[in-house]
Amino acid sequence: MSRRFLVTAALPYSNGRLHVGHIAGAYLPADTYVRYLRLRGDEVRFICGSDDNGVAALKSAREEGKPVEELTAFYNASQRRAFDGLGVRFDIYGGTHQPDYVSLHEKLSQEFFLKIHEKGFFTKRASKQLYDVQAGQFLPDRFVTGVCHYADCGKPQAYGDQCEACGRSIDPLLLKEPQSILTGTTPEPRETVHWYLRLDQLAPRLEKWLRAKQSPTDGSPAWRSTVLNFALGQIGVGLPERAMTRDMTWGVPLPLEDPDAAGKVLYVWFDAPIGYVSFTAALCERLGEGWKAYERWWKDPACRIVHFIGEDNTVFHALTWPAMLLATHEGETPEGRPGEYQLPWQVVANAFVNIKIAGKAEEEKISKSRGTAIWIEDYLKDHDPDPLRYYLTAIAPEAQRTAWDSEAFVERNNAELIATLGNFINRWQKIVSEDFGRKVPPLVNAAEENRALLAELAALPAAVGDDLEAFRFKTALGRVMDGFRAANRYIDVRAPWKSRKSDLAQCGATINVCIQAAKTLGILMTPFLPFAAEKLRASLNVPEAEWTWAAAAVPLPAGHVLGPQPEVLFRKIE
Ligand code: 2FM
Ligand code: ZN
Repeated sequence: MSRRFLVTAALPYSNGRLHVGHIAGAYLPADTYVRYLRLRGDEVRFICGSDDNGVAALKSAREEGKPVEELTAFYNASQRRAFDGLGVRFDIYGGTHQPDYVSLHEKLSQEFFLKIHEKGFFTKRASKQLYDVQAGQFLPDRFVTGVCHYADCGKPQAYGDQCEACGRSIDPLLLKEPQSILTGTTPEPRETVHWYLRLDQLAPRLEKWLRAKQSPTDGSPAWRSTVLNFALGQIGVGLPERAMTRDMTWGVPLPLEDPDAAGKVLYVWFDAPIGYVSFTAALCERLGEGWKAYERWWKDPACRIVHFIGEDNTVFHALTWPAMLLATHEGETPEGRPGEYQLPWQVVANAFVNIKIAGKAEEEKISKSRGTAIWIEDYLKDHDPDPLRYYLTAIAPEAQRTAWDSEAFVERNNAELIATLGNFINRWQKIVSEDFGRKVPPLVNAAEENRALLAELAALPAAVGDDLEAFRFKTALGRVMDGFRAANRYIDVRAPWKSRKSDLAQCGATINVCIQAAKTLGILMTPFLPFAAEKLRASLNVPEAEWTWAAAAVPLPAGHVLGPQPEVLFRKIE
């Protein structure tokens, strides 16, 4: 039966390019999952776009000497190219401040804010913040530098939110010798007013929902324990109120008549997740359904919402965002649902990918400033997307951090994609062309090895599917590769290059089994290696409509005419 899914991948900040760590964290597993669901025949919308608002973009725009609109448009376009080149195929790639999306995004974000305001889940409160008199504005934390206020550090490289030297978080009002990065002057503390989300009041409803995710009774997969333990742990120590407004002009204007609201915008982490909703609405509009059709995805419990994120986003997706969704409603609906909006069905978080530098024993964090990032656009200049997809899934940081190792990347491409997968497909091409005119030969007098391999492959779609349903991408890919290893062992034993001279019927039976194996494994590898899988599909001459999960173990009939020999599936990397 077809199911309905709304899948999102974290909105990347549009102040930089994408590197392999980003892709391994959220985008590749999300794309793999969506491709799998589509092969199963499920109805899916896959949503992403850039996170344009907030201080990060403003700061980069200053550094690059460009208007912030130009900067965010530039990186939005760069991200689109990277995703496209890797085959990460969203149904929509919006942007919270991109010209085509900003008005609907602002409208929905403001409605969200007003709804929560009306339900009484904000407190308005004054606090002190640093103000740059010369620039005439309050300073976001990253716009202040000074001397670290911890007595055992006291280093000068501290920002208003974090000390670069000791790594601890900084209270900007305690920073010594504070300086504004805008004017170089000393800012002064001034009183300002903000709206705080009452996470403390929402905590009991959040906890009830999260506890139910520990051991779901409806057959849905349990959440990764890293996500649940973190979120429940935070509730355990008590959730603080969080300011959801900022003194800035770049962002979604605060939609209140209140004179205190002047010159303020919504906090970027308030409007960013609403981007998932506003881009869904924009997609519905583009498809001619009208933007309001987003409710079919966001308010209908028959749809499952799945968020793919990196570990640093866990607090926002497992606590703040669900709290916002809950806060649009006082409590359970009359039907016993947690609110008007649905809460995420799954939050799939990956750890970070570090980098292993040749000659160094320790793995390091990927760092833009130290030049250790492997940028996707650079990678794609010389290499195909599938090897990167393969390696990043093989080292997927599902339970803990892993590390990119360029030598291992090359090695695995050559030994696994070429010598195992590609080689299996190549080994019987010449025989099927020369001896059987590229038609599937009949499976006569099937020997024991034939039946054994076919039985092994027949069980594979369910096993790989179970892993993918439970977000175990690395294990699922491992099973597909084990299938190719088994197929290689089979052809070694059957040696059709010998039987073609002595017993053509036996040789034909072997080739038949190889073709069935190629079809099964080809369909199963599609979510992971879509480019190679497409070449294989064309060479087997299976129509797209029949390249489905359900058809994976259904044999191609004898006499079926294959397409031409596949183009090279994988190229050697030196
Ligand atoms: O960490 C980040 O890159 C954020 N821009 C992710 C935002 S996800 C969302 F909620 F939109
Ligand atoms: Zn410090």
